[in-house]
Amino acid sequence: MAEPTYLVSGCMGCIGAWTLYHLHLEGKRAIGFDLSTDRGRLDLLLPRAAQESITFVHGDLTDFAQVKAVLEAQKVTHIIHLAALQVPACRANPVLGAQVNVVGTVNMFEAARQLGIAHLAYASSIAVYGNAADYPYRLLPHDAPLLPRTLYGVYKQANEGTARLYWQDHALSSTGLRPFTVYGLGRDQGLTSEPTKAMQAAARGQDYHISFGGKTQMHFASDVARQFIAAAEMPLNGAHVFNLGSTPISIGEVAALIMEYAPNVRITHGDAPLPFSEGTDGAALYNAFPAHIYETPLAEGISQTIQAFARLA
Ligand SMILES: NC(=O)c1ccc[n+]([C@@H]2O[C@H](COP(=O)([O-])OP(=O)(O)OC[C@H]3O[C@@H](n4cnc5c(N)ncnc54)[C@H](O)[C@@H]3O)[C@@H](O)[C@H]2O)c1
Repeated sequence: MAEPTYLVSGCMGCIGAWTLYHLHLEGKRAIGFDLSTDRGRLDLLLPRAAQESITFVHGDLTDFAQVKAVLEAQKVTHIIHLAALQVPACRANPVLGAQVNVVGTVNMFEAARQLGIAHLAYASSIAVYGNAADYPYRLLPHDAPLLPRTLYGVYKQANEGTARLYWQDHALSSTGLRPFTVYGLGRDQGLTSEPTKAMQAAARGQDYHISFGGKTQMHFASDVARQFIAAAEMPLNGAHVFNLGSTPISIGEVAALIMEYAPNVRITHGDAPLPFSEGTDGAALYNAFPAHIYETPLAEGISQTIQAFARLA
């Protein structure tokens, strides 16, 4: 039987680096696929010697031939598809955004289908939902209507539709996960990276202002990576997509927790909430993966992150 082999697309990103980290810890064969060759985020997690267990393939998701070739040549059995352009990049260049996020995801599904890979895990996002005012409930159930307010969200909605059609037409199953605010080492770009930047500043003994307020859901990048690995390893029958759980928390409480671990700094925040509901309901995920839910308590995740930043500084 073929050795289990995991392809991580977008492996140089924050969640991708954490995914490679956990695959390495678990002794699993990992292939990192990315257009970038900058290992800066992975270097925060794994020394270069440990990275030798990983095969890195430099490639472009928008090129179908390259995607199929890496899956075929590396005899990939499990796919964790994370590569994407984020909200600001999609806004700045909608055509490229659609090529990477929409066509790139079709490329991954189609290559998997052609090679007989029966299942894949992929990243969707909270951005498939609309604003808080669009919904009558506080916590969004996973099947709440999708009303994206950004092109990025529209592209993620297209990914969920692509997944549904590959199940309907080809019985290729998939599990998508929709993170909200991911934090931890390597989270360094985009608006919701600010809580992590506050933790980094705190580790250096510096004050920081988080520009937004309101409530959010905080997901530790380490947990998100492990959830993606579980999603890839445990196929469910169908094209499923899940919100990640965790209790919504105010940015004020996040700031207070950071200051608890770094009492000499001041972490402040703005008033305007993020343009999303304050949280999503993770019940469907808990029901689907009852023994594989990864939710490090926030205080613990913040403490670990500040300590890690302090060590690296
Ligand atoms: N970080 C969050 O808070 C968050 C929240 C919701 C959803 N997500 C989704 O999770 C996934 C991973 O997020 P992240 O924060 O690690 O993203 P990231 O921006 O840190 O990393 C994305 C990676 O994709 C790579 N990439 C871009 N275009 C490519 C191409 N054409 N070919 C190959 N690789 C390419 C980039 O080089 C980068 O390394 C993304 O799909 C993202 O949309 C993230």
